[in-house]
Amino acid sequence: MNKSKSGKNDNVSNNDNNINNDNNINNINNNRYDSQPEFHTISNYPKSGGQRSFKQSQSFHEPKNLGARVTLSETKTFSEKAREHWTPERIKKVTSGKKYPILPSEGAELLRALGLLNADASMSADAVRKYIQINHMLLLLEPYFLELCERFPTVRVLDAGCGSSFLTFLLAWCFRNRWKKSAHILGVDSNEKLIQKSRTTAQELGLSDVLKFECANLQEFLWDTTYTKCFEAEAKRPNAVVALHACDTATDIALAIGIAQKADFLGVAPCCQAELARKWAKLSGENFTGAFAPVFANPNLRREIAAHLTDTLRMLLMRGVGYEVTITEFVPSQHSPKNRLMTAVRRGNFHKESQVAYTDLKASLGGQSIALEDLLAAGGGSVAIDSPTDATTKPSI
Ligand SMILES: C[S@@+](CC[C@H](N)C(=O)[O-])C[C@H]1O[C@@H](n2cnc3c(N)ncnc32)[C@H](O)[C@@H]1O
Repeated sequence: MNKSKSGKNDNVSNNDNNINNDNNINNINNNRYDSQPEFHTISNYPKSGGQRSFKQSQSFHEPKNLGARVTLSETKTFSEKAREHWTPERIKKVTSGKKYPILPSEGAELLRALGLLNADASMSADAVRKYIQINHMLLLLEPYFLELCERFPTVRVLDAGCGSSFLTFLLAWCFRNRWKKSAHILGVDSNEKLIQKSRTTAQELGLSDVLKFECANLQEFLWDTTYTKCFEAEAKRPNAVVALHACDTATDIALAIGIAQKADFLGVAPCCQAELARKWAKLSGENFTGAFAPVFANPNLRREIAAHLTDTLRMLLMRGVGYEVTITEFVPSQHSPKNRLMTAVRRGNFHKESQVAYTDLKASLGGQSIALEDLLAAGGGSVAIDSPTDATTKPSI
């Protein structure tokens, strides 16, 4: 750490906005990340520290000044620069001493390519937040992926609504450098520009054998044909389907794809769950008189409560079709309301009580279905929620 004459820490980077300044790194950690997130089940989910507007919450996962990717040819010695820059003291300040899967001293080229490291190997304040967020997420997902690595010679992963593909790339990096296992990871998004950018980045990083990207609307996406086309291999089911902040019902589509494909593991961080709120607004306009009428009539309560209940209904549907579901926070709730991670492991035994609980809860909420129910019903007998208990199906993980 450099010291100025005044005794204060110097900002090593030329860019004043960088939080390469060690004091700023401390501030971020002290304010937000000084402890591991407490993980809560949905039944004791904590109240958020304060209400945020929809606009504020939207900016959480895609900070505006991130993702300005660079070509790696400009920085041949970038890894060395990063190793020099990221002293154990600096790493500790960013990670608060936690064992993050990707350290900036080790995954420098990847982090640079994703726009998370500056040219001088420092990290901007926004990048530190994103870096911490994705590492927390990876820490939570890692045990599931390690289990898949043990069971399958090549782990097949679908990232549905991959967007800028931070997680997609970090997963590929972990498979290659940390878990040292073979993987086929397919990122799908309807945004052509982002898909093109991710393809270029994968080539530059030498990850294009592990990582493929396809531009498609998830509603029309076909796993089998796309997988065969991209990896030139016989189609087999995805072992994992992940969807991070896939907007509104895109999360339901991702879950439905995973369930229809009998994926061994599902991991979603839902976002903008607006479907039920829209339906409740309509019911309110039609003078709905049930117990939830006061909620339906208030836009703020309607939006907030619909988001929580959408995830509750998703959880019940997933349990009803044979998944063991866990709901946790992946970053502390004061940082963002979009911090819920739903993980689901396929056990294969349909849980009758959850099917009944779904029907009861839906009835008490005015009888409106969520997209996942409609998609599962359209998916045929194997995934329809009223499938008979399948006690003979072996747990798949
Ligand atoms: C908020 S971004 C999240 C991106 C990324 N998963 C992340 O966490 O950084 C949501 C992404 O989902 C994509 N998306 C939403 N609905 C989709 C659909 N029906 N089919 C394909 N992509 C979709 C959007 O294009 C967008 O890139």
